This record gives sequence, structure tokens and C-alpha cells, in this order.
Amino acid sequence: MDIEALKQTAQAMVASGKGILAMDESHPTCAKRFEKLGIPTTEEKRQEYRDMLLTGEGIENYIAAAILFDETIRQKMLSGISFTEHLHNLGIIPGIKVDAGAKPLAGFPGETVTEGLDGLRDRLSEYYELGARFAKWRAVYTISDKTPSDAANMANAHALARYAALCQEANIVPIVEPEVLINGDHTIEQSFIATQSAQKLVFNQLREQGVALEGIVLKPSMVTSGLDAAEKAGVEEVAKRTIECLLSTVPAEVPGIAFLSGGQTDEEASAHLSAMNSLGKELPWNVTFSYGRALQQAAMSAWNGNPDNVEAARKVAVHRARMNGLASLGQYTPDLEQQAA
Ligand code: 13P
Repeated sequence: MDIEALKQTAQAMVASGKGILAMDESHPTCAKRFEKLGIPTTEEKRQEYRDMLLTGEGIENYIAAAILFDETIRQKMLSGISFTEHLHNLGIIPGIKVDAGAKPLAGFPGETVTEGLDGLRDRLSEYYELGARFAKWRAVYTISDKTPSDAANMANAHALARYAALCQEANIVPIVEPEVLINGDHTIEQSFIATQSAQKLVFNQLREQGVALEGIVLKPSMVTSGLDAAEKAGVEEVAKRTIECLLSTVPAEVPGIAFLSGGQTDEEASAHLSAMNSLGKELPWNVTFSYGRALQQAAMSAWNGNPDNVEAARKVAVHRARMNGLASLGQYTPDLEQQAA
């Protein structure tokens, strides 16, 4: 394990004013989003779409790293060079989703544990050869009266730590992603409690299994009210509670925190991130984005599978990346949305 290289990569992934583009949707997830817009779910369309996301002018000014899916890391751009070479040319670090998805946790209805540890060592060494310098593993927690259970918390924290240790052995920076789902009618307080206990156990397990915390990136969900909550916490409260939670769980050695967007609207995701970075608190880690939907959905709609829309869609993608780059510096304001990229 080359700790210096891991540290350097982790720091570069959360470099000031930049964030991470999560474009690692599995085939079923990508199909769901394409089908909603009537886009054919073919390998060619996924290639065209992801090519569009990475060819907007100046995208590299806001995106430090991109998470790819297995198909994409082996695929060529429309120009004929590989996706990883294109990313290298732009100075964007390529990474890879390595988990095999959240599967039902036996004995705990409604809860999941993320699978994918079997054979992971070999897959990581292949991905390193293909150019990946970081990886992603997502654990999923659901808030209800009875969940997350201690069993789900433990199973997921353990798997995340096993994954992270294997990544570092392969000189790949692990993105550690415990996602407490926004779905449900829970209060922000319930979200705080679930998020804090999940994160505490994750760091406990990471330590226990010898993971070097200066060579990881944490990808958490924000502390928010549930999507169907009767009363919704405002932007300032989300920012305050999220930072309060992180300060209580995330050791200062961790170089960066890059949030997922988790079903927030594009504007909410930018506003929340910006508010966290303008609380006026000295934070021990860089706080930025690793958004999937909140970076992509507007661009996907603008593209709509039609080659004639590529240029317009690229502009939309760069605009969202720029908004979130500004948010990572605490400089996003809603009126900036009117500006074209
Ligand atoms: P969202 O930002 O759409 O939640 O996706 C981020 C991600 O990588 C989920 O694993």
C-alpha cells in the first residue's frame, strides 16, 4: 500500500472548487432513467450519453474525478480514445463502482446489505490496470419506526470497511458511501440520529480493520427531512445539522467529504452544499459534491437521446457542474441559475 499516493489521490478528488461526477449507474438504473425519457436502452446510447457528459467546454474546471461503471471503463469515446484516456487528458481522475448492489438482508425485512466482496481483490487489480485510481461502494439505510436496525448498521459498516481495506491494498482510494435514504416521512431529527449512528459505526469499523483514514473520501447523505415529511427543514437547518453530525463522526484525518444528492432537486443540492460551506466554521475536511442525479438529470433531459441536442446538453451539464463548484466554495446563489454556462 502506497499511502502517499493514496493521500495525494484523495486530496485531488476533493480539490478546492471541484467535486466528483457520479456517472456509474448500473444498467437497470440507467435504463430506468432513459425509459422515462423514451431513450433506447442500448450500449450505443449509454456511450453517446456519457460522451456528452464529459465533452462540455470547461467541465474539467469543476470536476476533479468521475465514477464510471464497468461498461464505461472498458468503452471508447465517440472520438475513438478510451474514456479513461479522455479523462486523463482533462486531468480528471477515473474511478469505478465496485459494489454489486444492495441486496435484502436476511432476517430483516425492508433492509439491505451491499454485496460484492467476493473476488474483489482481483477485480480491483484489473481496474487499476484499466486506469482507475479510486472506487465506490454504496451502503443503503432506510428510516422507519424499526430501521435502521443494529444488524443492518453492523453488516453494512463491516462490508464498507472490508471493501476499503481491499481498495487501499490495491492503491485505490475507497469512496466510502453510507447513504441514509431520503424516502419516507421522517423528521430531520430522525435523519440526524440514523445518519450519525451509521457513520459512527462505519468509522469504528474502518479503524478496526486498519484503513488509513487519510486515504479515503467519505460520501454521505445530508441530514434532511424525509421527502414526504409534513414539515420540511429549510436550507440553513439542513446545513447546520449535517455539519453538526459530521463533526461528531468524521475524524480530521479524512481529507474530504463529497455528498451524494440522493433525490434532492438540482437547486436544493447546490444550495445545501453552499450553505454548509458558508456557515463560517473552520472545517477539518474539504466539503464538496459527488452528485449523480443533481449533476445529470437536467443534461439528460436536454439531450433526450437526440444527437442534435448534444451541444445544448453539454452546456447544461457544465452549468450544473459550475453551480456545484461554486457551492463547494460557499459561493452559490439561486440567481446564478439564470446564467448560461
Ligand atoms: P445521486 O447523487 O443521484 O444520489 O447519486 C450519487 C451516487 O453515486 C449514488 O451512489
